[in-house]
Amino acid sequence: MKALILSGGKGTRLRPITHTSAKQLVPVANKPILFYTIEAVREAGITDVGIIVGDTHEEIKAACGDGSQWGVKITYIKQDEPLGLAHAVKIAEDYIAGDTFVMYLGDNLIRDGITDLVERFKEETPNSQILLAHVPNPCSFGVAELDGDRIVRLVEKPKEPKSDLALVGVYMFDSTVFEAVNAIKPSWRGELEITDAIQYLVDTNRRVNAHIIRGWWKDTGKRDDMLEANRIVLEDIETLVEGEVDQQSVIHGRVRIGEGSTVTGSTIRGPAVIGRNCRVVDAYIGPFTSINDNTIIERSEIEHSIILEDCVIEDLQGRMVDSLLGRGVRVTRSDLKPRAYRFMLGDSSDVSVL
Ligand code: TTP
Repeated sequence: MKALILSGGKGTRLRPITHTSAKQLVPVANKPILFYTIEAVREAGITDVGIIVGDTHEEIKAACGDGSQWGVKITYIKQDEPLGLAHAVKIAEDYIAGDTFVMYLGDNLIRDGITDLVERFKEETPNSQILLAHVPNPCSFGVAELDGDRIVRLVEKPKEPKSDLALVGVYMFDSTVFEAVNAIKPSWRGELEITDAIQYLVDTNRRVNAHIIRGWWKDTGKRDDMLEANRIVLEDIETLVEGEVDQQSVIHGRVRIGEGSTVTGSTIRGPAVIGRNCRVVDAYIGPFTSINDNTIIERSEIEHSIILEDCVIEDLQGRMVDSLLGRGVRVTRSDLKPRAYRFMLGDSSDVSVL
């Protein structure tokens, strides 16, 4: 069995981060989401991993390499345009070469992994196995209509959903899926939809098994989902302080502080992670915060946020919450006159001031 991880796409819902960077590499608890995916695949015993890449292919290749860091063999498959999940399957036909495979969306996180699900697929040998989860907002997902445990219909982002069962971003297929992706036509939004491909399998009497998962799952396409994923992953971290914390600082709860980082006169309330070579001075870092390497935080308060590498946050008067900062972002106070806000923001930035 092989794995096909989808890491192309446009990432429009995560702009401006995705103007310059792959959303699958945004870190959750300081580790790129995509790495959790590769680990889950490896954990399930799969070592042949194809990664679909788009415009951000160089960044993804630089981060994942040949896969040897996880003991897997990665093959990159370039998708020239993000023409849909089923299109990504279509262009992977040569790579899959008649094998069965698990397709995993590179921006999805499943807390309990996929090992049991892969086992189940191998035991039951259906043509396809899909995962469903009850969600409060089915309009944002592919939605399944079931009759007992039989799938009647799958609809992508329905305006009037017939159920609250969303398709989770992990699917298993045998090679009949290639007949499906070659038979379907693009949808109204111009994409080859995986829901249409699976519907084709249902309509042509192939066996498609659906399992409802109860564990936690997150599609991290938007900022709030990313923060929620960060919160949940941080819930499980263990304390590990490799940096230096001075006598005046107070650490509550589970906190990780990386090598070369210094914490001075600050309070850190976990769960939180601080990467390597950071400087935290006279600051408060609150629960559910991930601060990546080489970041400086001075005389400021931050909570429930993800801060990427090389940021500088200084002298904020209000607490920063619910925020996602890309690489090299500076948020500072200025003494210049007139007293005013001064911004240099990329396209689609989002700022809320006091
Ligand atoms: P989506 O989140 O559905 O699409 P997107 O990444 O284009 O994001 P947005 O809707 O915000 O514009 O994609 C799910 C995953 O599949 C994600 O990791 C990107 C990947 N993908 C591809 O690899 N190729 C594609 O053609 C599409 C549509 C998505």
